[in-house]
Amino acid sequence: MSVDTAAPRTRSPRPGPGTGPLLRVEGVTRHFTVSGTRIDVLHDCTFQVERGEVVAVVGQSGSGKSTLLNVLGLLDRPSGGSYVFDGVDTTRLGEGPRSRLRGEGIGFVFQQFHLLERRTALANVGVPMVLAGVPVLRRRARARELLEAVGLGHRLHSQPHQLSGGEQQRVALARALSRQPALILADEPTGALDAASSTVIMDQLLEQARIRDAAVVVVTHDPKVAARTDRVVELVEGRTR
Ligand SMILES: Nc1ncnc2c1ncn2[C@@H]1O[C@H](COP(=O)(O)OP(=O)(O)OP(=O)(O)O)[C@@H](O)[C@H]1O
Ligand SMILES: [Mg+2]
Repeated sequence: MSVDTAAPRTRSPRPGPGTGPLLRVEGVTRHFTVSGTRIDVLHDCTFQVERGEVVAVVGQSGSGKSTLLNVLGLLDRPSGGSYVFDGVDTTRLGEGPRSRLRGEGIGFVFQQFHLLERRTALANVGVPMVLAGVPVLRRRARARELLEAVGLGHRLHSQPHQLSGGEQQRVALARALSRQPALILADEPTGALDAASSTVIMDQLLEQARIRDAAVVVVTHDPKVAARTDRVVELVEGRTR
């Protein structure tokens, strides 16, 4: 089951976008202030992820995994340290360029799916392509192809409330892949799923790395999921190991 048959990206010998590790976080910290009290969540996160690499992020509940993923996905800014994505130091970027980089380069699979209610699976998968200005016929054809690849060719016109949890998660995955992002972030994508649905999701993520040279970072509590990745990064009290 292949979502993308496109050839791997060609790599340029020059430094900058397209060369080197896809992402590098260095000394990243993140704290929040709640009712005047400072909560330090990420203390010192340093690691890098290569193109084509699949990395699991593990750690206890509350250790900061989702906080870290939000930073990697440019949904949140670190309080300190640096985050370089595809050769660009994102810590210095304004909101406009950040959101362009996010839209073009990053696909996010959220734990709670975050699908639009009252929109069909086809429409949900098409959303990132609407934002990218892809013409309607091309958009529909690609959304259909993506849904077929995750085994939902028979559910194109179903709305989220008419789908099972595993089916909704597969729609969310198809949506995350729609713009062929260089980085795919998945926060417990198999958390609520049975073994068969988990396998479909992991097969797809691994295939993105193998066929398209995409990097994948997956937060998981499941040892079977972690065992299928290339490398495990453990978060212990906000520090990477
Ligand atoms: N926006 C926020 N404001 C205040 N505190 C926050 C915020 N986001 C996260 N936290 C705190 O940061 C800590 C880490 O949260 P995070 O969601 O990153 O954990 P996690 O490792 O993903 O946990 P889980 O495995 O339960 O999903 C928690 O103690 C949480 O209360
Ligand atoms: Mg979490």
